[in-house]
Amino acid sequence: MGRDKLFSIQDAREFYLCIDDLLRSEAVQQMKAFTQHGTTSTYDHCVVVAFRSFLLCKKLHLDYKAAARGGLLHDLFLYDWHDKKARGHLHGFFHPGIALKNAQSSFTLTKKEKEIIKKHMWPLTVIPPTCREAYIISYYDKVCTSKEVVVQWYGSMKKVFKPSSQ
Ligand SMILES: [Fe+2]
Ligand SMILES: [Fe+2]
Repeated sequence: MGRDKLFSIQDAREFYLCIDDLLRSEAVQQMKAFTQHGTTSTYDHCVVVAFRSFLLCKKLHLDYKAAARGGLLHDLFLYDWHDKKARGHLHGFFHPGIALKNAQSSFTLTKKEKEIIKKHMWPLTVIPPTCREAYIISYYDKVCTSKEVVVQWYGSMKKVFKPSSQ
């Protein structure tokens, strides 16, 4: 028995319409140059977090446009966080603020979009979000990060634990 369809073409089209202008911007395109985890770029990570958040927000009749746009921009920090010199101290705590600053310098954001970017690392950044959309992005950020890390670890393990030839 096959899996149910995860989303419709209509969902994908609607998502694209919400973020079309952002996707075509230089700032968002720059995220393709940075690795999030393993083989996943920051751009791909943000697109998936944004799309999954968009789908759930749409289902729950929440602000799915803010979820799509805030989700896409949530990690717009634009440096290689694996590089200790480039990232500075405490990347986990400070990158939401850096992403927000970068996003604000390129785009006009709504209050909710700002909240989504600023609070996506909650509960690491202690102050809780003030809107449900921000909780949803925070949740999918963790889900997607976990999957990226598992794939990365599995790839590394496969290289080490090769079956011995008979
Ligand atoms: Fe982040
Ligand atoms: Fe993220």
